[in-house]
Amino acid sequence: MLYCLILLLLLCLSSTYLCLSLNHDATILRQAKLGLSDPAQSLSSWSENDVTPCHWRGITCDATSAVFSVNLSSFMLVGPFPSILCRLPSLSFLSLYNNSINGSLSGDDFASCRNLIHLNLSENLLVENSDSLTIYFLLVESRVNSVI
Ligand SMILES: *[C@@H]1O[C@H](CO)[C@@H](O)[C@H](O)[C@H]1NC(C)=O
Ligand SMILES: *[C@@H]1O[C@H](CO)[C@@H](O)[C@H](O)[C@H]1NC(C)=O
Ligand SMILES: *[C@@H]1O[C@H](CO)[C@@H](O)[C@H](O)[C@H]1NC(C)=O
Ligand SMILES: *[C@@H]1O[C@H](CO)[C@@H](O)[C@H](O)[C@H]1NC(C)=O
Repeated sequence: MLYCLILLLLLCLSSTYLCLSLNHDATILRQAKLGLSDPAQSLSSWSENDVTPCHWRGITCDATSAVFSVNLSSFMLVGPFPSILCRLPSLSFLSLYNNSINGSLSGDDFASCRNLIHLNLSENLLVENSDSLTIYFLLVESRVNSVI
């Protein structure tokens, strides 16, 4: 771990660009993109060369450049629910409305979505693993306005 940190520091010192490009939120979004098939190239603006993801299509940041909204409505995305998005620390709005997100969902998928207050997964191909999902949403009912 320490070794990695030292290595990272050395890399940063040798290349400011590389260091800046390691934005935490952008890294998470890129990983989410890797897990999805994007036949319409809806995520083509999600470029590896950007320091922050704030100008990427579907992404909105707050004043500190932290991503608080991910709105991928009608992007024609195919694949499993990208639960890694829950690792965006400031995420409060998430919409995947009208895509082809498939597979099953469980409460675990949302376990780290701590600040989420609006979730829209309508018009997808999801099967919900209802027990754990219902329990999860009962727990966070006061925070979540809109569910599936
Ligand atoms: C989400 O994106 C869709 C399509 O770009 C847009 O029509 C809709 O208004 C957006 N929703 C919010 C809450 O910003
Ligand atoms: C769903 O997404 C498709 C592809 O982007 C679009 O053509 C269609 O109008 C959308 N439907 C709704 C109800 O938003
Ligand atoms: C989701 O859709 C993709 C593309 O159609 C397919 O390859 C995959 O098997 C589907 N996954 C599930 C769990 O249905
Ligand atoms: C999901 O988003 C669509 C498009 O913005 C909207 O028409 C629909 O009412 C939303 N559903 C929920 C549960 O918020």
